[in-house]
Amino acid sequence: MDCYKVSRSDPLSGEVEISGAKNAVLPVMAATLLAPGVSRIRNVPNLKDVRTMADVLRVVGARVSFSGDEMSVDATDVSHFEAPYELVVTMRASIYVLGPLLARFGTARVSLPGGCAWGPRPVDLHIWGMEQLGAEVTVAHGYIEAKCRPGERLKGAEIHFPISSVGATANVVMAAVLAEGTTVLNNAAVEPEIDNLCEYLVSMGAKIEGIGSRTLRIEGVETLRPGDGVTIPDRIEAGTFLCAAAITRGRVRCLKTEPKHLMEVIRAFVRMNYQVDYGEDWIELDARSAEPRPVKIVTQPYPGFPTDMQAQFLALLATIPGNSVVQETIYADRFKHVPELDRLGATIQLQGDTAFVEGGAKLTAATVMASDLRASAALVLAGLVAEGTTKVTRIYHMDRGYERFEQKLSALGGRIERASDGE
Ligand code: EPZ
Repeated sequence: MDCYKVSRSDPLSGEVEISGAKNAVLPVMAATLLAPGVSRIRNVPNLKDVRTMADVLRVVGARVSFSGDEMSVDATDVSHFEAPYELVVTMRASIYVLGPLLARFGTARVSLPGGCAWGPRPVDLHIWGMEQLGAEVTVAHGYIEAKCRPGERLKGAEIHFPISSVGATANVVMAAVLAEGTTVLNNAAVEPEIDNLCEYLVSMGAKIEGIGSRTLRIEGVETLRPGDGVTIPDRIEAGTFLCAAAITRGRVRCLKTEPKHLMEVIRAFVRMNYQVDYGEDWIELDARSAEPRPVKIVTQPYPGFPTDMQAQFLALLATIPGNSVVQETIYADRFKHVPELDRLGATIQLQGDTAFVEGGAKLTAATVMASDLRASAALVLAGLVAEGTTKVTRIYHMDRGYERFEQKLSALGGRIERASDGE
């Protein structure tokens, strides 16, 4: 397996182009199953998860091709309605094919995704949402089997999500666009990735009102046409590079990004006394003369502070003098990176859903193990300022969600190289 060797680096400096958002393109790829014909998606990042989702689409009978950062999906001959365990277990987002297959073909069989490093990742709201639209769903032998009643289509309904769920919102929206009648979704997730999906569905002829709000009104249609849309920039990749600038006391400008998707992260940097400027499609953090302050962070559904930035901020806060607090309200145990940061010299105490950081640590290199995508990024950030060369293992997590990460970081002056574990 590969690892990263990350050495103490000078303050990062320069510009970095942000890629298309992993969490936006994955549901849009699934949405292409809703219509026969060739759909196009632009600004597609070259990521392992994108290739995995392409394999899922091929397994059900779609033809997927790439040309640069454009993807084409021909869903004309989709004839198999099952997402197998072997693929779903490697990427939870495979469950996004549930809604489209059920809506267009009246049947879907999708493996349960299983858990991840930080505990169970239930899909009960995805299943509940399909039942609200009239599907009959059984779960057995590790698979979700969903069917419409014989000779019937899904039926629109008034649905109230008990909690804000990005994935369940996406799946139910993709099912509702072909349901008979009107669906009203209350307490829908409002992450930018959901807006991106809804806009893409509208390009396919879907009728959706209230995009960007917590109440979506969907008028079901008989059929949809192939879609054509652009993937929004990856707000978490941008936030990760801004954290890299902060932790190394450098100055980095993220290009091809969307500041309004990162406002709560920008506000957190400003509360920490960092200089942050932004324009229409760029964000710059200048930490060269910063005297950063400790801060309290609470993760929330959008537009609150994103849980996907929690690990990266913990690495940064470990190096800032003073006591900081980070409360994780989205996932039960998304702190697997804390013991690894502590091995690098951080002083972080966990109490339930809250991490108490005794900041100002002088980090020293060690071998650490990545547990998930964002934890990997946090360990790399810490390695940029730890004395010596840190070895980050299991970096296949990084390859899932960060395009050309080591190339982009090296271009900013980060000392990082990919090696095999044995080296
Ligand atoms: C999406 O996951 C993202 N993944 C996650 O990013 C992100 O952390 C998460 O949204 C929250 O923003 C993708 O978009 C592919 P949720 P998702 O449904 O949809 C609970 C990354 O690093 N829940 O909004 O799975 C769930 O356990 C990844 O890029 C249920 O209880 O998240 C969590 O506590 C990690 N039942 C909360 O809701 C369900 O059926 C929010 O989860 C579904 C979710």
